[in-house]
Amino acid sequence: MMRPEQEVLLGAEESHATPAIEGSGGDSDGPAVALRGLHRSFGSQMVLDGIDLTVGSGETLAVLGRSGTGKSVLLKLIIGLQKPDSGSIRIHGQEITRLDLDAMNELRKKMGFLFQHSALYDSLTVEENVAFPLRRHTKMTEPERRDRVKELLSGVGMESDLKKMPSELSGGMQKRVGLARALALEPGILLLDEPTAGLDPITSGEIDELILKLQEEHNMASIVVTHDLHSAKTFADRIALLHEGNVLIEGKFTELEKSDNEFVSEFLKRDS
Ligand SMILES: Nc1ncnc2c1ncn2[C@@H]1O[C@H](COP(=O)(O)OP(=O)(O)O)[C@@H](O)[C@H]1O
Ligand SMILES: [Mg+2]
Repeated sequence: MMRPEQEVLLGAEESHATPAIEGSGGDSDGPAVALRGLHRSFGSQMVLDGIDLTVGSGETLAVLGRSGTGKSVLLKLIIGLQKPDSGSIRIHGQEITRLDLDAMNELRKKMGFLFQHSALYDSLTVEENVAFPLRRHTKMTEPERRDRVKELLSGVGMESDLKKMPSELSGGMQKRVGLARALALEPGILLLDEPTAGLDPITSGEIDELILKLQEEHNMASIVVTHDLHSAKTFADRIALLHEGNVLIEGKFTELEKSDNEFVSEFLKRDS
């Protein structure tokens, strides 16, 4: 059984039309991601209660918040894995909440993502995992694909582990391969859900540095969900703190430090 997060990676079997990414209200000059008034409930539980956030091209936004505040839900809405109850999600100016599946799958090729619990395909080697999106979504020849996979794995320091199975890798190595796979289609937008969760502090620090490096090399708009303020400080241009369904505060770390909101100061104190 595949998790929905893994199925998303597969995309459409065959996309018939070529849905317009530009056009239909798209504006490639607009912010990479713009969220306005996003609401999402589960039953009677209001999880996101009017989220407004903007991420510009080349910018890294860290989304922080306690466990259960809706950080993963937020990313799933952006990738179209779930629909908001109301509100707007624009990707490069294009409203995605009304897109059909074909168009959404087309758009997803421009977004790289690494979900919290979606590990690699455990029956595929490292090489095959990273080749997967290339095989599915590009017309690369076998040798071209092999070169590209090597290049991607070398970018995350994993070029010597091509033939290994995911079960033979440490947690940090699995994240590295997941990052290489997320970057395979050269996405303009990168979404990472808790990329350092469950890793020891040293390995976490290495992944933080890697995210920063990839960000500089690929100049993507990134949203990185984390509960780790220390990580956020390493790689984020801006930080948004989610609390009780809203963005409690948003800004550079130094701006958050100046806040006199009690929850914000507590949050910063606890973790720094
Ligand atoms: N598919 C779902 N069905 C019901 N409740 C959900 C679903 N997905 C998330 N939730 C609830 O939404 C809240 C936020 O979840 P989540 O986004 O995973 O939090 P986190 O900030 O820890 O990533 C949690 O209370 C969770 O139980
Ligand atoms: Mg989560």
